[in-house]
Amino acid sequence: MGKEKVSGMLFQNLYLSEGNEPVDIRVTDGKFEEIGPGLQPRPGEEVVSDCAGKLALPPFVESHVHLDTCLTAGRPRWNLTGTLFEGIQCWEEYKPFLTKEEVKERVNRAVRLQASNGIQYVRTHVDINDPKLTALEAILELREEVRDFMDIQIVAFPQYGILSYPRGAELLEQALKLGADAAGAIPHFEFTREYSVESLNICFELAQKYGKLIDVHCDEIDDEASRGLETVATRAYETGMRDMVTASHTTAMHSYNNAYVIRLMRILKMSGMNFVANPCVNMHLGGRVDPYPKRRSMTRVKELTEEGINVSFGSDDLFDPWNPLGNANMRDQVFMGLYTGHMLGYEEIVNSCRFVTTNAARTLHLGDAYGIRPGGEANFVVLDAKDWYDALNYDAAVLRSYRRGRLIAASKPAEKHVYF
Ligand code: FE2
Repeated sequence: MGKEKVSGMLFQNLYLSEGNEPVDIRVTDGKFEEIGPGLQPRPGEEVVSDCAGKLALPPFVESHVHLDTCLTAGRPRWNLTGTLFEGIQCWEEYKPFLTKEEVKERVNRAVRLQASNGIQYVRTHVDINDPKLTALEAILELREEVRDFMDIQIVAFPQYGILSYPRGAELLEQALKLGADAAGAIPHFEFTREYSVESLNICFELAQKYGKLIDVHCDEIDDEASRGLETVATRAYETGMRDMVTASHTTAMHSYNNAYVIRLMRILKMSGMNFVANPCVNMHLGGRVDPYPKRRSMTRVKELTEEGINVSFGSDDLFDPWNPLGNANMRDQVFMGLYTGHMLGYEEIVNSCRFVTTNAARTLHLGDAYGIRPGGEANFVVLDAKDWYDALNYDAAVLRSYRRGRLIAASKPAEKHVYF
């Protein structure tokens, strides 16, 4: 008798959430067909029982990273002060080495590192203040080449400004035409307050013209007078773009006075927009000009979350001049974010995986394509823990990562022995 054709897979006894009983998951033709307890194997179905008792989650989502600069730390030299500005200087010294092939080779390594940690969706910002748009063209090409295991969303990011860089608006428009998914801006880095507001107007106009999302590097500075956020929120509200708009960083909000924040919160809620904090890098780069005491430089994640506003966590930088550490493990962002944000209450810990899963998926507008539910694409990860609390605490290995029912990455947990 010939071997029967495998028609699908049945994963037995996986936990989907804290405190609930484990369930079986049936995957057929790359989709979740059935989810529930005690499903009976069908003839020819592959039964997967070696992850029984483990936690299954939708894949991790990296909602803010700069892939164009990744894996360049120490080349041509290290950022010794660790400041944003020396980082920019190091990057300027690296730029002569940039070619399309060089960028593709590096980013290819980075996305495989991400995949090994259970990430399947990435939003990358790509510097488009480059007359040749070398990095953008490289990552647009790579986006197609890695589609089978990674979705890459590209933000056209004007690192030096839209109005404070020669032909900035033109380059932004060109990047959107070439295929970037979202328009970026950097209002706090523009030369003047007027440029700051006008750059946001241009960003919104272009995004609407080409039907793109928006993700603004917004108020990433410890200057309490940096108020780009109120303009972003107001435009998101007035244009009706709402949750198509994201404000990344907003670290100045940490330093805003509370009277202002109370007023600001109203339009933030009305806008329906998303926020991304980058806990590790925000802590590393922030507070640098303070004498003691030094400010924490992360946006108000706790208060935004309590107001029902969507917040996710990103890595920002991955082993580059702005972050000499980083291994593309989203758990590290949650860990740092909870400590920095005073969010270690039991419920806050239990719910914290949303910052790098469902909340981040909302920011990326993944819609129904994301989540473990019958009819959806069978994209999920299995962690070496029974629940998220333990996964976070013990930095659980991502045992398996499945994409449309296909295994795309796997790892074995480290063994530890105590001999007494
Ligand atoms: Fe960033």
